[in-house]
Amino acid sequence: MQTNFLVIGSGIAGLTYALKVAQDCPDKDVIVLTKTQSDETNTKYAQGGIAGVMDLDKDSFDKHIEDTLIAGDGLCNRHTVEIVVKEGVERIKEIIAWGAQFDKEPDGDFKLGKEGGHSEFRILHHKDVTGKEMERALLSALAKQKNIQLVSHCFVLDIITQHHLGYLVTKSTPDIQCYGVYVLNLNSNKIEKIIAGKTLVATGGNGQVYRTTTNPAIATGDGVAMVYRAKGRIENMEFIQFHPTALYEAGVRGHSFLITEAVRGDGGILRNTKGEAFMKRYDERKDLAPRDIVARAIDNEMKINGTEHVYLDCRHFSKEKFTEHFPNIYDKCLSIGIDITNDMIPVAPAAHYSCGGIKTDEWGRTSIKNLYAAGECASTGLHGANRLASNSLLEAMVFAHRAYKDAVTNQNSNTSLGDGANFPDWKSAGTNAPKEMILVTQSLKELKLLMSDYVGIVRNNERLHRAMKRLDLLYEETEALYEKTAVSPQLCELRNMITVAYLIVKSAEFRHESRGLHFNTDYPGKSTLVQNIVM
Ligand code: FAD
Ligand code: SIN
Repeated sequence: MQTNFLVIGSGIAGLTYALKVAQDCPDKDVIVLTKTQSDETNTKYAQGGIAGVMDLDKDSFDKHIEDTLIAGDGLCNRHTVEIVVKEGVERIKEIIAWGAQFDKEPDGDFKLGKEGGHSEFRILHHKDVTGKEMERALLSALAKQKNIQLVSHCFVLDIITQHHLGYLVTKSTPDIQCYGVYVLNLNSNKIEKIIAGKTLVATGGNGQVYRTTTNPAIATGDGVAMVYRAKGRIENMEFIQFHPTALYEAGVRGHSFLITEAVRGDGGILRNTKGEAFMKRYDERKDLAPRDIVARAIDNEMKINGTEHVYLDCRHFSKEKFTEHFPNIYDKCLSIGIDITNDMIPVAPAAHYSCGGIKTDEWGRTSIKNLYAAGECASTGLHGANRLASNSLLEAMVFAHRAYKDAVTNQNSNTSLGDGANFPDWKSAGTNAPKEMILVTQSLKELKLLMSDYVGIVRNNERLHRAMKRLDLLYEETEALYEKTAVSPQLCELRNMITVAYLIVKSAEFRHESRGLHFNTDYPGKSTLVQNIVM
């Protein structure tokens, strides 16, 4: 197969880019690949909303910029922050034009929410299911676009570079080029190669590396791992954001239900198991301090009191007010016997967002030619050491737009390389169907456990060292299995997650300070050397 524009991922970043390219270049083909159903994305689960300065009389770009910089704890790229905050408003207007609906006041103004670290009410939302609404609008706009082919159940295995033509490619090779991808097409169970002029990686986050996460099962960091294997640059992987308030359900691991920060924005209060509203002891902004501070405070309270959760108290809300803004949360809580008007909600932190990722420039270009990255898998410089709530949907749209602009301006078809026949087919000789899945599932359990226990909210050198030793073993065993086994999504995801975990631990080891989301008790202060960790 050959295409002008290839997109890996059907979340907000991939779909926004695909729509724009297809509308601008009606005579060109766009292929969008997604590894499960087309709407199964982190995007679909976004609750709180999208931050945007929609009314310059009540808010200002400067305030949003300042809030983002404060949350990022000295590591944001100010130029990127300005781009996202200022261009974001146009992108929000575009998705509204594509059909997304955000809640409004009776007078027609947007109903704006507030979340941790924001100095103003500036979060547009669609009740507590904002991402689902945005994904719906994008998918329905995309369905009308004849030159886009959206193919679900296609698992991208690797990015094709000159390495596949037999050239030596290392991190210091100056002109690494992307020519397309190898894909395991689960519809035909065949491995295909797709040659592409321009490729966008929009594969989302990696929360599944941890035992408890707000991310769905697709969030296994495949894009970051692929680009790292292709010798592209990866940045700031140590900054994993733990959301302070995932619903705690005894025995439930993997994908945890989120209780949006907007609940605290509307007045929800965190209490420990003794009933104390503890946040005032940690930060003057109390329950609406930035996420890293709230998550660490909860972690500390749980450790002091020997509990697995704290509580979010919403008993003072009227049922009408709560259900109007948070109908999905109300129903979910009720389904497990929690009536939020009488009962406090048990909550605990869970892995939520990867602030680092594939390093890009201000046009979404990666260090590999003809390869772009946008959305959660990218590191654009916006988030620094900690992402401000509701800035990621915004960033994804802004950088999808910028990548689209650059890709259509500098089109190339890679035709000089022929029709793909020059590239070898995927090598599967010598591999056999897996004999037993236990080898994969057990390694996955070990991986999640070691990352949660040793590389969580609070880290130290000993824990990181232990994590790396165990990762080495998992890596060795999994590579040996990979060499002799026919590829499957489960095996490839495990392999990708081990790579991502390695990048998180290695970057954490390199950072000899505590900053933003990275807190190491052996280096409790900040270093005077303010730097990104690039691998
Ligand atoms: P995703 O939406 O995750 O899409 C990734 C796509 O890549 C999927 O289609 C997947 O199938 C595909 N893919 C991955 N690997 C492969 C592969 N190997 N082959 C083929 N396809 C592949 N942010 C906000 O700004 N506001 C919020 O209110 C908010 N709430 C959130 C609530 C929850 C519960 C979660 C989990 C996140 C929330 N976030 C929020 C973060 C935000 O939703 C995500 O960062 C954003 O949606 C990511 O979009 P994306 O397009 O980068 O990736
Ligand atoms: C939330 O709704 O609390 C999540 C918002 C975000 O992750 O940006």
